[in-house]
Amino acid sequence: MPAEISVGIHDLSFRTTSFVLPHTELARYNGTDVAKYHKGLGQLSMSVPAVDEDIVTLAAAAALPLVQHHGADTIRTVVLATESSIDQSKAAGVYVHSLLGLPSQIRVIEVKQACYGATAALQFAAALVHQDPAQRVLVIASDISRYDLDSPGEATQGAAAAAMLVSADPALLELSGTSGLFTADVMDFWRPNYRATALVDGKKSVAAYLEAVQSTWRDYVLRGGLPLEEFRTFCYHQPYTRMAFKAHQALLEECGVHTNEETLHKAVGTTTVYNKVVGNSYTASLYLALAAALDNCHDLDGETLGLFSYGSGSVAEFIAARVRPGYRSHLRAGEHRESVNSRQTVDYETYRELSCQALPTDGNTYELPHQTRGPFRLAALRDHQRIYEASS
Ligand code: COA
Repeated sequence: MPAEISVGIHDLSFRTTSFVLPHTELARYNGTDVAKYHKGLGQLSMSVPAVDEDIVTLAAAAALPLVQHHGADTIRTVVLATESSIDQSKAAGVYVHSLLGLPSQIRVIEVKQACYGATAALQFAAALVHQDPAQRVLVIASDISRYDLDSPGEATQGAAAAAMLVSADPALLELSGTSGLFTADVMDFWRPNYRATALVDGKKSVAAYLEAVQSTWRDYVLRGGLPLEEFRTFCYHQPYTRMAFKAHQALLEECGVHTNEETLHKAVGTTTVYNKVVGNSYTASLYLALAAALDNCHDLDGETLGLFSYGSGSVAEFIAARVRPGYRSHLRAGEHRESVNSRQTVDYETYRELSCQALPTDGNTYELPHQTRGPFRLAALRDHQRIYEASS
């Protein structure tokens, strides 16, 4: 029998957009009591993409530090998970592969299942590494969440990309083998191919999410998962950060444990630090919660984290991940804070103008204005093709 190898996340990096809209601005425009956003939803601001930013530029920006630091030699697979795909056929990761100058001897694919996709990508990556521990897999979650303007979902928009290098003997996090799984055919959130914004039954999506939390946990227990007491910190998918509190309450109720705001805050409070100012980044949201826990919790050496992934429609998974001793010296907390803090604040009118600017679809040539502060940009559209370049 070969010795058991540990596989997991060796490095984690996220980036967000160049612009940010504070919820005070949204409240100023629509007359909502801002406490609904700040307290009711747990959102302070949301990332807004520049005209020349999309899921490809965000993904490449998030992955660049990993490739620069670790090199590309051992990367044999790139998996990009997204709900806001830019093409029905070509994988967005192929553009990322090109922008990052990765070697040709690599497979690149895109995966989709609403906000859950990146967790499937992570499991796929882990299986590949188990098959060949010498190879590494670059997993990227990249999304721009868009709801109709003036709809209840508008306040829960956001955008970000998280890149993870999955390897044997990882420096940050070791994935445990057992998962709790749950799938249900439910129309809580979906986006037909002809729409740029999601359709959502908000209340139904909250209920479906909470049912998925309890169901995945039941499955996790059934399959011999770790007991509740093993976990101190739980990272949940955060369409808005109050959802993490609701989710954890549902999980504890499933376990028959009495909760109060303090218990919930201890378990999930720190995990909301990035998402409460970035907003919903769909596939990346859970991994921004994970980054927040790693970057901001005092000392997680050897601790087990619970990760809950939910993608409307719906598929959900609960996994346990053990934090590797010495992980703190491999974090990118400074870069993450810089990405969030360097965004330029826009007023409601500018945000609305940016949101209404759909890219032309007539196949003519359009040069896009240089707005992004990121390392890559969508420079032009030509012959129905997207032309990317490194920002000069
Ligand atoms: N002060 C403090 N809290 C306030 C408030 C105020 N002035 N006004 C409202 N709230 C609270 C509400 O009580 C509610 O809390 P609760 O969820 O604990 O009941 C919360 O703020 C949201 O208010 P609600 O009236 O339910 O908001 P909404 O009708 O605008 O819808 C969503 C909220 C999340 C359904 C909506 O934003 C949406 O559809 N989002 C996109 C889908 C999504 O994120 N789904 C999540 C699962 S994937």
